[in-house]
Amino acid sequence: MVNSLCMGTGRCADGAESRWGICSGPLFLFAEKAEAIASDRRKGFRGELNQDGKSNGNSRKQRQIMAIFVTGDTHGSHQLGLHSVDGFMHRLRTEAFPEQKEMSKEDFVVICGDFGGVWSTNRKKVQENAEERHALDWLEHKPFTTLFVPGNHENYDRLTGCRDERLLNSWLYESMPPEEKEKLRQGYPRKEWHGGHVRVIRPSVLMLERGEIFEIDGKSCFAFGGARSHDIMDGILNPADYPDEQSFRKVYAQRRGGMIRVSGVSWWAQEMPTEEEMEYGRQNIRAFMETHDRIDLIFTHDAPSSHRIYLGYPDTDELNRYLESLRDEMEYGKWFYGHLHDNRMVFENNILLYEQIIRVN
Ligand SMILES: [Fe+2]
Repeated sequence: MVNSLCMGTGRCADGAESRWGICSGPLFLFAEKAEAIASDRRKGFRGELNQDGKSNGNSRKQRQIMAIFVTGDTHGSHQLGLHSVDGFMHRLRTEAFPEQKEMSKEDFVVICGDFGGVWSTNRKKVQENAEERHALDWLEHKPFTTLFVPGNHENYDRLTGCRDERLLNSWLYESMPPEEKEKLRQGYPRKEWHGGHVRVIRPSVLMLERGEIFEIDGKSCFAFGGARSHDIMDGILNPADYPDEQSFRKVYAQRRGGMIRVSGVSWWAQEMPTEEEMEYGRQNIRAFMETHDRIDLIFTHDAPSSHRIYLGYPDTDELNRYLESLRDEMEYGKWFYGHLHDNRMVFENNILLYEQIIRVN
């Protein structure tokens, strides 16, 4: 049974990050199969030799092979804590993910939420801090395209735009000039990509927006990020509820040590989808299923209700119930989600991922 929620460190229990080492039985078989595919793919990339010792022309370009790998939450790290941004630097470094040696920007790594690379709140200017910039540039220079659905540990104001005008007009942003506030309302640039909409963090680091169906390497992929944070048992403080920083800090100091978060600084209401976003996703699926037999791949952060219950989390919310209801609307190939910090095959074609990186095509 899973016994922790979003508090892990991105490492296995033995302290060493491993893609295959801690999986359950059924998933291990799946992982073996995935590794066999990866091995076959590596041969294809290199081009195999025929009996004359000549290349059979099986070059990558001719085979047009693209790969989709999937992994779970990458926020936080063992070294720097839950809200550091170097989690994916550890997970996706070449030593831990050697397949990348034969990958290109036409290959994809999908992170199932809690990406964690966009986190800090700057009160004067909308910008990445030095640590974020370094980590995101590192990722941009990797030989693959990174896709992620958002989780509950993301700075949504910076990712997709701040919708809280009270917060924008509060003491928190009193030093921010109007043009920067407008940037904060917009988030990262939005564009159409492979049939849906993404936020462009870097040219090859893209956030998949909720409810979109993308066509990636010939596969239809439904994305729906988000989840409710559970480490807020002692409440959420909104800076806009306090007339000035001093009065806010007084209350914050009194409650410090509890499980509290601060809206716009360490918690964002957009972690949960709106009714409109859920309806948008449902209508997209219905329209797609009118002309297709199934959706090939689904990427979410949280899981459908029945899966959470199966995994030992009976507490379900409106997002879990929404995802559950989508299962009645469609057929699908494989559903990947994260959030629960474990690697498990759930029923036949649903996969909970954390540290493992699995190839799916
Ligand atoms: Fe999460």
